[in-house]
Amino acid sequence: MSDSFSAVKLTDRVYWVGAIDWELRDFHGYAVERGSTYNAYLVLADKVTLIDTVKAPFYEQMMARVASVVDPGKISYVVANHAEMDHTGSLPRVIERVKPEKVVASAPGVKAIGQHFRLSQELTAVKNGETLSLGNTSLTFLGTPMVHWPDSMFSYLADERLLFSNDAFGMHLASTERFADELPEWLLDYEGSRYYANIVLPFSTLVLKLLDKVKQLGLAIDIIAPSHGPVWRKNPSWIVNRYADWAGGPLEKKALIVYDSMWHSTELMAAAIADGVQAGGARAKLLSLKGSHRSDVAHEALKAGVLLVGSPTLNNGMLPSVADALTYLKGLKPRVPTGAAFGSYGWSGEACAHIEDVLSEMGLSLLREALRVKYVPNEEALAQCVELGRLTAARLLSPTAGAGA
Ligand code: FEO
Repeated sequence: MSDSFSAVKLTDRVYWVGAIDWELRDFHGYAVERGSTYNAYLVLADKVTLIDTVKAPFYEQMMARVASVVDPGKISYVVANHAEMDHTGSLPRVIERVKPEKVVASAPGVKAIGQHFRLSQELTAVKNGETLSLGNTSLTFLGTPMVHWPDSMFSYLADERLLFSNDAFGMHLASTERFADELPEWLLDYEGSRYYANIVLPFSTLVLKLLDKVKQLGLAIDIIAPSHGPVWRKNPSWIVNRYADWAGGPLEKKALIVYDSMWHSTELMAAAIADGVQAGGARAKLLSLKGSHRSDVAHEALKAGVLLVGSPTLNNGMLPSVADALTYLKGLKPRVPTGAAFGSYGWSGEACAHIEDVLSEMGLSLLREALRVKYVPNEEALAQCVELGRLTAARLLSPTAGAGA
């Protein structure tokens, strides 16, 4: 086995033994710009315990890191905090190699892992609040359903005041740095919010409940060790507070204008609407789908107060790029409360009605009926676009807009 991969020490008895995926660029539809990490951790207790594994192709890398601190054969317990294969992909090989005394997961986790793999060993279900003795220390499990899947759970190592939070508080970011305090805050904010918007956003209500639950339990937490991205060892409350804000904090006085165009007419409309928003005293963010990915749209929608979507009509519908972005966004359930459609058309002009249908299905209230322009917008049409922008700004600046959950 390669000796080029080493474990990274978190505390006297806890080591990072994960893998860095420098090449990942797509995570089921989410454009990952800077790769990712799959974080596994080793607890050097009387019962040596491996917390999570890594994506299957990275098994050797993880085992090399384990071997840099302990003989892998000494692993007694494996904890699977989450069934998704970026964390369980190496589990079958770990079980074969290590033959651990016990592999534990939540009850839904045991079921889900059994539906993913044919394992040579039975898994043990642990309950919310249950504690597993590791001999000279212990782990307590906390069910965190839907953060990210129904089976997800946290593991808490009280003696080290360390929370293994799996997908929560993570980000897709490959880096040589293992700790958040070694990275610039703007990058943590950018990649953390991008991950939240593209992965965690649909479960914001549950995130708020989870944050409350952790607060009520009064867990002392010095370190948060997530399953993706850097470990929070200094000021872990920074990321907890960011989660509270992304999940339920006030929305920004920002209109997100997402559009695509055929012959620049819808593009002209978008620019005029943005001018109107700015003139009305609010902020506009334009995303042309020629250069922006659906993940950028989700990221910008995270705190947007109004969503304006523009498309010309193509073959009685909206442009495929607009349909793609809207389909993705609908699944993520952004908190944006208000929206409107706009676009240029030639004869039938159905795109706007289709956009309005999706906005309504997403639960947005419509600011006004769709603004449609025949072929190329003239001065009068552009003035109507500016007016839509001003209406949007007025909505954003109204006292009731953008309240938190
Ligand atoms: Fe990182 Fe839901 O898996």
